[in-house]
Amino acid sequence: MKIKSVPNGPNMLETDETLTLKTDNGEKALKSPCYLCRCGHSKNKPLCDGSHLAAKFEAPGSEIQGVKKP
Ligand code: FES
Repeated sequence: MKIKSVPNGPNMLETDETLTLKTDNGEKALKSPCYLCRCGHSKNKPLCDGSHLAAKFEAPGSEIQGVKKP
């Protein structure tokens, strides 16, 4: 599993696990990688819809890497 904060963009979640988005409106399967809004401007939260570009969102990139325990 890896979570990468794209510079000036969303958080990218990448995994070989099955992803399911659960909201008040039901469940939806997601493909990996999926992009999660971190700018607060998406109209499709928690997913990124590209609105960070118009909002000129600025934030540095970073990465969290998961390692399976032996
Ligand atoms: S990070 Fe893309 S819409 Fe918020």
